[in-house]
Amino acid sequence: MNYQNFVIARVLHVIAVVLWIGGVAFVTTVLIPAIRKSQAPEERLKTFELLESKFSFQSKLTTLLAGISGFYMLHAMGGWLTMSWWTYLMIFVWFVFTLVLFVLEPLFLHKWFHLKAQVNPEKSFFILQVMHIVLLLISLLSIFGGVAGAHGLL
Ligand code: HEM
Repeated sequence: MNYQNFVIARVLHVIAVVLWIGGVAFVTTVLIPAIRKSQAPEERLKTFELLESKFSFQSKLTTLLAGISGFYMLHAMGGWLTMSWWTYLMIFVWFVFTLVLFVLEPLFLHKWFHLKAQVNPEKSFFILQVMHIVLLLISLLSIFGGVAGAHGLL
C-alpha cells in the first residue's frame, strides 16, 4: 500500500464527510425547523426545495467523493474480508444517500412528496423532517464508529 496515497484518500474522505453531513445537520436542525415555524403548511415544501436545491447538488458531489475515497482506502488496506460493524455502517449510510439522491429522488420521491403535500401538507413536511432526523442520526453514528474504529477504540 502506498502510504501517501492512503493519507490523501483519508483527507479527502474526511473533507467530503464534513461538507456532506455538516450540510445534512444544518438542513435538519436549522433549516427545516425554521421553515416549519415561519411558513404556512402549504408553503413549506416549496420553500424547502428553493433553499435546499443548491445543497442537493453539493451533496451529490460529496457523496461521490466520500464513496471513491472510502472504497480506495478499503481496497488499499486489503480490508474487504475483515470489515468491522462500523465499516458496514459507513457503507450502509453511503448506500442509502446514494439511492435517495441518484435514484429515488429523481424517479419518484420528488413527485410523491408533491402529491402528498397537496393532500396533507402538514403531515408530508413532518415525514420529511423525520427522514432527515433519522439520516442525521445514522450518519453521526457512523462518524463515531469511523473515528473511534480507525483510531483503535473499538
Ligand atoms: C462507500 C462508503 C464508505 C467506505 C467504503 C468507507 C471506508 C472507510 C475506510 C476504509 C476508512 C479508514 C479506516 C481505517 O483507517 O482503519 C474510513 C474512515 C472514516 N470514514 Fe468512511 N467509508 C464510507 C463512507 C463513510 C460515511 C458515509 C461516513 C460518515 C457519515 C464516513 C466517515 C468516516 C470517518 C469519520 C472516518 C475516520 C477518519 C479518520 O479518523 O481517520 N465514511 N472510511
